[in-house]
Amino acid sequence: MSKPESSEWLLGDESVDTKPTYSKVEGRALSNFIIGASLIILTVLNITQYWRSITAPNPSQIVYSPVQHLLSYELREFGTGKPGDPSPYFGEPSTKLDRAWRDLYPSVYQLIPKESAAQLVEKTLIFPHDPQRRYVVELEVFHLIHCLNMIRKSTRPDYYKGFAPGIVNSHTEDLLFGPEHVSHCIESIRQAIMCHVDVTPYTWIWNSTSGHMQNVFATPHTCRNFDAIRDWARPENNGGNVSAGFDGLYREMNDPLDKSTWINGYRGD
Ligand SMILES: *[C@@H]1O[C@H](CO)[C@@H](O)[C@H](O)[C@H]1NC(C)=O
Ligand SMILES: *[C@@H]1O[C@H](CO)[C@@H](O)[C@H](O)[C@H]1NC(C)=O
Repeated sequence: MSKPESSEWLLGDESVDTKPTYSKVEGRALSNFIIGASLIILTVLNITQYWRSITAPNPSQIVYSPVQHLLSYELREFGTGKPGDPSPYFGEPSTKLDRAWRDLYPSVYQLIPKESAAQLVEKTLIFPHDPQRRYVVELEVFHLIHCLNMIRKSTRPDYYKGFAPGIVNSHTEDLLFGPEHVSHCIESIRQAIMCHVDVTPYTWIWNSTSGHMQNVFATPHTCRNFDAIRDWARPENNGGNVSAGFDGLYREMNDPLDKSTWINGYRGD
């Protein structure tokens, strides 16, 4: 995010005013007026500039994201999540259900080119051994879906046997539904929900069969287009090869975006 322009030179102008060059009262009043007016105009310009810098290019995505150009909005009617819901992500555990969930995050991490990595608010690393020397990121949406999938699996220890007591440093996702990792996931999802503040109003209807009020879960919501982002993140596009894992013990040196990695006379080209 670009910071508002510095207005240091304005202070320079003010210091001119303190020099005893203006002896006449009128001259002084006029110059004070001009300086005052300039200050007001420049303050307004600065505020406008600042506002533009925090709202551009998309007010719904202030922090730079490599996929911000793909964001669009649509209406989606939510399912009920109740018995009889035809959602492929809902119901008794099965390999079919697992495949459906896994296809929501074809790659947990994504690889982006240098030009894109250079715009990140925080630096990231070059992905170990990538011949194209792309940089690694993990879009929050995929982190959260992976997390939700781990919570889902943790509710069925009768079916999913990979249970491990804590966070395990492994590429095997099935070791990630122990209580420590699940707590991390619940905390991540809580923050995401509170971050996005979906204010879609559910309504209530009268059910004359049961004789009580019930809320209508199948209601249209304002949603970002998920499919476009998932397609971007597929391994054949910008995703990583998840089954190949991550050589997390290997550090790529001579990263043009990180001087602390420059060795053997490398100068960042
Ligand atoms: C009304 O309640 C009945 C009995 O609980 C239930 O079977 C039915 O699905 C409900 N109707 C709607 C529209 O949800
Ligand atoms: C992904 O990695 C696995 C395991 O190393 C390998 O068998 C597979 O061929 C790789 N797939 C692609 C598309 O590179």
